[in-house]
Amino acid sequence: MTASAAETEAVAARLARVLRIGDVVTVSGELGSGKTTFVRGACRALGIEAPVTSPTFTVGHRYAGNPDASHLDLFRFQGFSPAEWGDLEPYFEDAICFVEWPEAAADALPPVRVAVRLSHVDREHRTIELESDDRELLADVSGDADARL
Ligand SMILES: Nc1ncnc2c1ncn2[C@@H]1O[C@H](COP(=O)(O)OP(=O)(O)O)[C@@H](O)[C@H]1O
Ligand SMILES: [Mg+2]
Repeated sequence: MTASAAETEAVAARLARVLRIGDVVTVSGELGSGKTTFVRGACRALGIEAPVTSPTFTVGHRYAGNPDASHLDLFRFQGFSPAEWGDLEPYFEDAICFVEWPEAAADALPPVRVAVRLSHVDREHRTIELESDDRELLADVSGDADARL
């Protein structure tokens, strides 16, 4: 559990340090749960200084960093057409890609390395759950066997 936006960013930064180019990280949770805050924290840890805000007029942003990071928000995408899917491909190439509202993509996303789920506890507190097949990654980020933070 985190007690502030800064703490959520710090958890995201710990995750970012163990990510690699090509990783896809889904970030789920209701509006205001801190998805964009989480992506911002990860981007900062990748050396990205540009403002990280929810993509609203486009489906995504790509930021130059070390490595690059992409940030997709699929909120308005209900079911992809192949053409739309083709448009998204550049976001995944040679970058770590964070995806808000992954539910909209159903099975169209590339394999997901880590699934992050944020939930409201109260105004300042959120729970953050990480899911991954990579147990070592979970241990590195959470320092806790069941990967609940
Ligand atoms: N523990 C916390 N973790 C993340 N955000 C928090 C936390 N406590 C308060 N907040 C606030 O909640 C809001 C989350 O907004 P945002 O990250 O845009 O959410 P989402 O992208 O899920 O809609 C921000 O205003 C942030 O400052
Ligand atoms: Mg958002």
